[in-house]
Amino acid sequence: MANSKNEWLTHEPPNLRSFIFATKSMKNEGFVPMFSQFLRGLKDHHAYSYCRKVISPQSREVMIWDEEMARERKMLMFASNNYLGLANSPYVKEKVKAAIDQYGVGLGGPPLLNGYTKLMVELEERLAHLKHQESAMVFSSGYAANVGMMVALTQDNDHVLCDELSHASFFDGLRMTQVPATKFAHNDLVDLENKLAQLSKTTNDTLFVGIEGVYSMDGDLAPLDKIIPIIKKYNAFSLLDDAHGTGVLGNTGSGTAEHFGVEHQIDLSMGTFSKSFAMTGGFLAGSKELIDYLRFFARSYMFSAALTPATLAAVLAGIDIVENQPELREHLLDNARYAIQKLQPFGVISNPEAAIIALKVPDWIDARKANHFIHEQGIFLNVIEYPAVPEGQERFRISVTTEHSRQDIDRLAEVMEQCWQSQDVKIA
Ligand SMILES: Cc1ncc(COP(=O)(O)O)c(C=O)c1O
Repeated sequence: MANSKNEWLTHEPPNLRSFIFATKSMKNEGFVPMFSQFLRGLKDHHAYSYCRKVISPQSREVMIWDEEMARERKMLMFASNNYLGLANSPYVKEKVKAAIDQYGVGLGGPPLLNGYTKLMVELEERLAHLKHQESAMVFSSGYAANVGMMVALTQDNDHVLCDELSHASFFDGLRMTQVPATKFAHNDLVDLENKLAQLSKTTNDTLFVGIEGVYSMDGDLAPLDKIIPIIKKYNAFSLLDDAHGTGVLGNTGSGTAEHFGVEHQIDLSMGTFSKSFAMTGGFLAGSKELIDYLRFFARSYMFSAALTPATLAAVLAGIDIVENQPELREHLLDNARYAIQKLQPFGVISNPEAAIIALKVPDWIDARKANHFIHEQGIFLNVIEYPAVPEGQERFRISVTTEHSRQDIDRLAEVMEQCWQSQDVKIA
């Protein structure tokens, strides 16, 4: 049942930001009960859309267990980064089954000790090739790759300059180091160059610049053809997180750097298996010397168990598909273009050019309640709120995949129209 207009207007229960601030001053014993009350409040107000229980494989359509309705229901999935539809690919599943039969299910140790396997070596070589780099190393997640990279690479005398919309894992890596850091305004070439010019005079050692290929919250690209020459001009070191570009962009599916023709100019490339490869794990790719160094200094690599044969085999199979089936990528981008055009009237943020589309939720609407309305219409998408984005910039994040049909996208647009109309949001 649709919520009435008034119910959507106020943030009741309080938003996550006020909750976080309120609890900062509390003693530990008050923290947990208060949070459980907060969660209960969300559920009572039909504003809880976290941890929805998916009971089928990920695909354009999924089955979930609907807690509120106490029944199974079919939903159109627009929240998964399974861009190439590999999550349930028969080819990938066959390769995984064969790997389990040949190598078993696990290793019980990190790569530096007993967890360095034939499949891992093979994957490192394939990733290095995909990224046009000499060498690569594999982490248990993209998060671990970013954190490990920051901790291992930077020293007190360095400086890190990064786009203000960099991923949380990049910032968490920064927090673990003592290295001074500065943000530049999102994709702002003038701000980037001004700050680089300034910092290059005052930084005693290396100046690192962190950028993303496809920004995960807005879906826009970093103009790498313009950014990389600026970084080079100041002899800085480029760190490119291409979590959402790998497998999606570029002639060979290498990613955003290839899309802009600067694939041979990136100092260190980071990627994840949790998007196009629909698995878990992450990687860094760079010069052989650098990767050999990182193996011994990236603590999230040294002190964490190696990926399982099943995961490695799935990603290897995914690379086969990325390399041999460019039509999946073409179809994905075609779908994304169609979705961007259909969703334009509903507040598309920025200028999406890959497979993520963000829709601004007007600040007088409770994004969670609006998402509940969308959920009720059978559409599964993500609502992104603080701390993932600044307060007041809540948005719906839509991930398009190659598996979606035009009708799926039309249905999404229809539901968005109903949602905004029910709240008198101006439709452009
Ligand atoms: C830009 C970016 N970097 C890093 C990560 C972390 O990747 P993973 O899911 O493999 O930990 C993500 C995933 O959300 C991301 O979007």
